Amino acid sequence: MEGYILDWLNLLGRWVHMITGIAWIGASFYFIWLDNHLEPVKDPADDEKGVSGELWALHGGGIYHAQKYKLAPNKLPEHLHWFKWEAYTTWITGMFMMAIIYWYGADLYLIDPSVADLSKPVAILIGIGTIVIGWLAYDFMCKSALGNDDKKLAIALFVFVAVVAFVLTQIFSGRGAFMHYGAMLGTIMVGNVFFAIMPGQRALMACAEAGTPVDPEHGRKAKQRSVHNTYFTLPVLFVMISNHYAMTYGHWLNWLILIGISIAGALIRIYFVQRHFGKNKPVYLGVAAVILLAVSFIMAPKPASKIASTTTDASATSVVEQNMLPIQARAIIKTRCSTCHSATPTQPGFAAAPKGVIYDTEHQINKQAVTIHQQAVVSKAMPLGNMTQMTDEERSILDRWFQSIQE
Ligand code: HEC
Repeated sequence: MEGYILDWLNLLGRWVHMITGIAWIGASFYFIWLDNHLEPVKDPADDEKGVSGELWALHGGGIYHAQKYKLAPNKLPEHLHWFKWEAYTTWITGMFMMAIIYWYGADLYLIDPSVADLSKPVAILIGIGTIVIGWLAYDFMCKSALGNDDKKLAIALFVFVAVVAFVLTQIFSGRGAFMHYGAMLGTIMVGNVFFAIMPGQRALMACAEAGTPVDPEHGRKAKQRSVHNTYFTLPVLFVMISNHYAMTYGHWLNWLILIGISIAGALIRIYFVQRHFGKNKPVYLGVAAVILLAVSFIMAPKPASKIASTTTDASATSVVEQNMLPIQARAIIKTRCSTCHSATPTQPGFAAAPKGVIYDTEHQINKQAVTIHQQAVVSKAMPLGNMTQMTDEERSILDRWFQSIQE
């Protein structure tokens, strides 16, 4: 029952998270696009009103005319839309899922004894610490002298983020490390909205209402933060889908893969932002593609002999041993995998077979040999959190079984 309730909380949390995430990033992409496509106003009356640029657009059967003011109109409108709850709700639901999946379920998803044998409270504390300290360190860097030089700040932030990626993968399961890295970047993005962009906008509104001149520093700082948010977006979105790809987080060089894909994501975003200004710079896409190619090359499955610590030479296994392999493999899968991956899981906390993957019969096992091999031998992402304590010897038997049925 507990597993069933958790599944529902997970489903509802994820559903809202996706919806508000789309609304937030969608609005943010739209406003960046809008800002970068503004044209100088044509009507002198608009110029007198303090309008700095305008844009005409067609959408859903209607024609829209957006105007941006240099600072604010003389008289503030009655209804002024703020965009903030999309960001806050995305963060709140994200943290909710983090708490039920990675913290409550730390022994399944966050702790990997083969990486570091942490206790549950320590793992959770490091997880929360990463997110809090990540924000504080980022905010400190932006406010320090570095903050006056966009380029130096960007380099410092990159180094910081790369170090976090490396350190997390040396502490947590690959999956847990990726997700905490993504949550840290996502928290920085929402922190920017909450602690920098919104206060800047409130200051702007206060000045506009009082009719006093606005300190342009507010605008500059808010702009810097929103530029960072733009370039964090694609890396964060990659992390949010990465848990479907054990080949990324399950690899022994997972930190390098994470950094590589993050850089590629930021470059792709830079390309599109440049394109808004009519500057077509395919070099950004080219470099991103080269990085993704390099990453895919690093991740490519190696021949079996290089993966498993085979104690015996596969070619020397006797015919008897060869014939034993399917029986041994089935026995291993039954004890190490089918506690969860069964029509009736026996693992506490599992109400149904995860991802609908079921290994109850010989037929089901044979049909899924490729993914079994991928998950248990190549990436070692399964058994999840090695809950069922699969040994290296067993992985090597599964490897030999897989090779034998490939022939
Ligand atoms: C403790 C429970 C548990 C055990 C034991 C376990 N798994 Fe899983 N497995 C899961 C969960 C949970 C998921 C879903 C992960 C997710 O949310 O992406 C999963 C997902 C999978 C997937 C689907 C991956 C995807 O992204 O589509 C495969 C394949 C898989 N497991 C294979 C195995 C194999 C092979 C074993 C035995 C070596 C095994 N599992 C042992 C819990 C378990």
